[in-house]
Amino acid sequence: MLKTSYPVLGIAVLVAVVSLLITYFPFKPQSSPPPRFFTVQELAIYNGTDDSLPILLGILGSVFDVTKGKTHYGVGGGYNHFAGRDASRAFISGNFTGDGLTDSLRGLSSTEVKSVVEWRDFYFRTYTFVGMLVGRYYDSQGNPTKYLKGVEAKAARGAQLMEKQKKEEAKQTSCNSRWSQEEGSEVWCDTGHPRLVQRPLEIALTGKMSKRCACFKEDELDQPVLEVYEGCDYFAKVCRL
Ligand code: HEM
Ligand SMILES: *[C@@H]1O[C@H](CO)[C@@H](O)[C@H](O)[C@H]1NC(C)=O
Ligand SMILES: *[C@@H]1O[C@H](CO)[C@@H](O)[C@H](O)[C@H]1NC(C)=O
Repeated sequence: MLKTSYPVLGIAVLVAVVSLLITYFPFKPQSSPPPRFFTVQELAIYNGTDDSLPILLGILGSVFDVTKGKTHYGVGGGYNHFAGRDASRAFISGNFTGDGLTDSLRGLSSTEVKSVVEWRDFYFRTYTFVGMLVGRYYDSQGNPTKYLKGVEAKAARGAQLMEKQKKEEAKQTSCNSRWSQEEGSEVWCDTGHPRLVQRPLEIALTGKMSKRCACFKEDELDQPVLEVYEGCDYFAKVCRL
């Protein structure tokens, strides 16, 4: 009876030792330095001018070390204007001058906002995250601001709407289309007849109207939302644009 308790004691000691080891030497792949906080002025120093300093770039308030992309972000690089600042809006506008270099996304559509968030994903994948810019997107505690939460919600809504639009459009057959110098643009249907249809979610997504060409069979043609191509026969299978 007493003998059997020795292995039990051994196991208990082993468990205790292992758990102590895990507590004091946690299995971290590689501990990265804690995130730093930057002011606009501090970030501006890392604009690529001083070769002895890293080049930093802010997007949606996240700051990345982009020194390995010096050809793009260094002095004379095509994207040098992104260095040392958060010019989130310029990822959409491509406007690298004056007020174009702002971190405000005011007035952008949900697909555009989503695209900026995807740029941030790109920097997380490609470069090293070093910290946060205190201002529009993060407070001095490093907490995301209402503004950042709004941006992320808008991007998520954009993604959802795009998914829904894709599903809706998959229910209809898209027209074939081709372009040639002689013929110009043409749309045609293998079965059914080409019709222009409004993309119902497009306004919510991009702020603009947009139409696509889809094919409809004869018994579907009476729907009032379907528009016959200008100059094209009601029952034509091919329409020149
Ligand atoms: C809104 C407009 C645009 C923005 C915001 C933008 C942004 C960027 C950024 C940030 C990079 C660097 C990515 C990295 O760190 O590796 C890049 C690379 C590049 N961009 Fe653009 N770009 C724009 C328009 C264009 C246009 C119109 C072209 C060509 C006609 C172009 C061609 C390129 C090429 C070729 C590279 C890669 C160069 C390389 O990897 O060596 N970009 N772009
Ligand atoms: C760029 O960085 C340098 C130092 O690295 C600094 O002296 C200069 O003022 C910065 N330029 C801008 C526009 O902030
Ligand atoms: C860039 O933005 C500024 C300020 O909003 C504007 O004055 C300028 O015309 C824009 N440039 C381009 C090329 O769109």
